[in-house]
Amino acid sequence: MKNLKAIDPKELTANTFRLIGEQWTLISAGDRESFNTMTASWGGFGVLWNKPVVYIFIRPQRHTLGFVQKKSHFTLSFFGEEHRPALQMLGTRSGRDGDKVAESGLTPCFTESGNPTFEEATLVMECRKLYDGELKADEFVVDKLREVVYPEGDFHRIFVGEIVGCWEK
Ligand SMILES: Cc1cc2nc3c(=O)[nH]c(=O)nc-3n(C[C@H](O)[C@H](O)[C@H](O)COP(=O)(O)O)c2cc1C
Repeated sequence: MKNLKAIDPKELTANTFRLIGEQWTLISAGDRESFNTMTASWGGFGVLWNKPVVYIFIRPQRHTLGFVQKKSHFTLSFFGEEHRPALQMLGTRSGRDGDKVAESGLTPCFTESGNPTFEEATLVMECRKLYDGELKADEFVVDKLREVVYPEGDFHRIFVGEIVGCWEK
């Protein structure tokens, strides 16, 4: 965070499809006493309810889900390619099973509001949770998609977060 400068989300020039789908992001929530983080490559940015927002999708079994549900805010942190192994690890190990953040080599830090992110991030979005809902089996229009992505019925929860802070390198 130290080397990032605050920007208006409207100034973002990065391509969303690449940023989330290829670069990936860390969803983090909690506080200085306790927080968790996980890798995500599904989601998006846009405008909803006249606000700049992010959309993220979290399966029920993720340890991070409880933190996102409990807290009023979460962050999205984006990194350079050199941190791909850390994101890979944070996206395959659970915070339930040990201190994966310490093992990742990333350096946790906190926004002024006390939300967790990482010193190594090149783009950080601090989001105020506006909506916490569940994808529903009977609302899929394409059944095949539901069957392929959710054979276990573990439908993602969908969160909409207002981008209340944005910092870029
Ligand atoms: C590239 C990549 C993308 C991922 N995207 C998502 C996602 O969008 N939503 C999700 O629920 N899990 C996603 N995951 C899986 C979680 O990051 C993974 O289950 C993680 O270990 C959860 O950690 P936690 O239990 O500490 O929360 C992704 C994993 C990887 C490697």
